Amino acid sequence: MANLAVFASGSGSNFQVIAEAVLKSSHSVACLICDKKKAYAAVRAQNFGIPCYFVSYKGKKREEAEEEIIEILKKHDIQLVALAGYMRLLSPVLVDFLPNKIINIHPALLPKFPGTHGIEESYNSGDKELGISIHRVDYGMDTGPIIIQKSFIRSGEESLEEIEEKIHALEHQWYPQVVLDLLDDIG
Ligand code: GRF
Repeated sequence: MANLAVFASGSGSNFQVIAEAVLKSSHSVACLICDKKKAYAAVRAQNFGIPCYFVSYKGKKREEAEEEIIEILKKHDIQLVALAGYMRLLSPVLVDFLPNKIINIHPALLPKFPGTHGIEESYNSGDKELGISIHRVDYGMDTGPIIIQKSFIRSGEESLEEIEEKIHALEHQWYPQVVLDLLDDIG
C-alpha cells in the first residue's frame, strides 16, 4: 500500500479519474494540494472525502510555499506525487524531496509544445499526430524523462474543442493506469 498526493490548480478532471481508480486499489490518495482557492478540484476532493490543502504562494518565495507543501507530504507519508494541471514549476527543493517520484501529464507530444499552451500550439501546428505525454518531473519545464506517450492521427477536420476532447480522453484513459503501476512498484 502506497500513498499518493495529487497537485492541481484547476478543474481536476484528471484528479477525479485518478481518485476513482486508486480508490478501487489497495493504495490511497492521501491528499490534494491546490494553489488556487477556487479550483474545482477542491470540490471534487471534498466529494471523495480526500483532504485538500490550499497552499498560497502569494507574497512568498516559491521555496517557502514548497516547504509548507513538504510538511504536508511528510504528514501523509507521501511516496508518489502526480501533478494534474498544477500550473507551477517546481523548484529543486520539492523535486529533490521525492527524487523520480513526481510525475506530470502534458497534453502534447513532448519535447514539442512544452508549457501552458500545449493543446493550442499542437492544434495550430501542421502536425498530423497529436497526443499526450506522462513524464517524471525534473528541474525544467516539461523536460523530465518520458514514461509513456499516447497519440492519435487527426483528420484535419476537427475543431479545437474536438481535439481537446480527444486529448482529455487519452489523459483520462492513461494517467490513472500509470499512477497505479507506479504505486504498485512502490509497495
Ligand atoms: C490537462 O490537460 C493536463 O494535461 C494539463 O492540464 C490539464 C488539467 O486538466 N497539465 P484537469 O484539471 O485535470 O481537468
